[in-house]
Amino acid sequence: MTEPEPPAVAALSLAETSTAPATKAIEQEINPWDVQAATDDQGNVLEFDYEAISKKWATKLIDAELLARFERVTGHKPHRWLRRGLFFSHRDLELILDTYEKQGDFLMYTGRGPSSDAMHIGHTIPFEFTKWLQEVFDVPLVIMLTDDEKFLFKEKLSQPEVYQFARDNAKDIISMGFDVKKTFMYIDSEFLSSGFNRHFSLNATEFEKLVTNNQVRGAFGFHGSTNIGSNAFAAKQCVAAFASSYPFIFGYDTKTYHRSAKLAAMPCLIPCAIDQDPYFRLVRENCNRMDQPSPKPALIHSKFLTALQGAGGKMSASNPNSAIFMSDSEKTVKNKINKHAFSGGQETLELHKELGGNPDIDVAYQYLTYFEDDDEKLVKFAEEYRKGEMLTGDMKKECIGMMSKYVKKFQEARAKVSDETLEEFLLPRKLEWKGNPKVERKVEVKEEGKEGGEEGTTMGEDGQPLTKNQMKKLAKAAEVERKKKEKEAAKAAQA
Ligand code: TYM
Repeated sequence: MTEPEPPAVAALSLAETSTAPATKAIEQEINPWDVQAATDDQGNVLEFDYEAISKKWATKLIDAELLARFERVTGHKPHRWLRRGLFFSHRDLELILDTYEKQGDFLMYTGRGPSSDAMHIGHTIPFEFTKWLQEVFDVPLVIMLTDDEKFLFKEKLSQPEVYQFARDNAKDIISMGFDVKKTFMYIDSEFLSSGFNRHFSLNATEFEKLVTNNQVRGAFGFHGSTNIGSNAFAAKQCVAAFASSYPFIFGYDTKTYHRSAKLAAMPCLIPCAIDQDPYFRLVRENCNRMDQPSPKPALIHSKFLTALQGAGGKMSASNPNSAIFMSDSEKTVKNKINKHAFSGGQETLELHKELGGNPDIDVAYQYLTYFEDDDEKLVKFAEEYRKGEMLTGDMKKECIGMMSKYVKKFQEARAKVSDETLEEFLLPRKLEWKGNPKVERKVEVKEEGKEGGEEGTTMGEDGQPLTKNQMKKLAKAAEVERKKKEKEAAKAAQA
């Protein structure tokens, strides 16, 4: 997502100046590269209207009934972000619950576009939530790092730069506590040129053939001068939702030409903020047209954690004061909240005590609603703030305490993520998960010569299972190749 543009000022004729508004109201714009809140005819930036976007894109709002079913099926109280409506919308989450009840597992998929070396707190939301969902469902997860996407869409970024960002961001994500046994993470430029990507590539090429220029232009607002890489990129983010793109995760043959129809049929759940939905509408529209059809991936969408400047603002790496970054020091966190967090309090202490504040637009309170687990404490803060008993400074102090703790915990974990740990996550391999404990896992018996390898194995070129050592050797070769490419790219950048 890019920096919001300032509202366009409507040209006024002389006759209009006395009665017409000073600016033209602008509708909100939400897409994967551009998120702008609406402005009214006075040029005021408005809050995002999430119900409107859900209606426009025909997603379903998450309601109490769905949350009750979630709790019944999983045996887990819904996460506070579900209870508080921060993950507010979905597509086919009911079908995922059906699958979990009947079949016991499915694939989870999320990702990050590495546009800078540090992630802000907003970016951590889908990952924290994904980790929680993975713990609840105990299912395999893939995390895609789209360095290719960021190179194609960001004019100023070079390939070596985005690749390095991807590695740094991958370490950030790992430090949120993902389980390496159940999680495969990949950097596009690396995985898509490795020996393990054949089925992913076949899926991507097939998908590229199904989608026309008009479809991607409609979905993403591309035009004739958009580079051809950007036009084609969507296919990659889309087929990443097909389990058949990752045969090794399930112990299937990676070298055979033929993709597994059984894996293609595996349902997928994608947690993300609502801006990523246009990609997945494209895959939902076309997945049943694949030679080996996949079900429409299910989605669970979050709202945007607001920028420090308040409602309608967007956190941006190019404006350090718009967001708290996971690399910020305790002092910076404190200063940013004190200086830049928009306050819902009154202008003077007297007025605040008399009229009370508005927690709904108070950024410090909004951040607390994300990170404070105690529902009662939050209700108490909101009530006291409204009555003017709790002051802006008190609210900011609570927020500083909470955010400093969150960032510090992250940084401590991040310091422990080594290159070796990263390589473990990046290694294509069979994952281990248990799924729904109430569903008996069927051990599949495959006929000779049919798709797939035996459960628990990854197959080599000769169709024989690879041993752990062979897998390690392959990974080492891939690492040597990667380092070679890295050096070449750095040389080219210097030249
Ligand atoms: P990216 O890097 O823009 O964002 C990564 C994830 O963070 C979400 N997000 C936010 N969530 C809450 N508050 C915010 N302020 C905020 N800003 C961003 C995004 O919705 C996303 O979930 N093309 C993608 C990378 C990708 C991906 C995926 C994302 C590839 N496959 C599958 C989600 C699911 C991107 O550039 O994300």
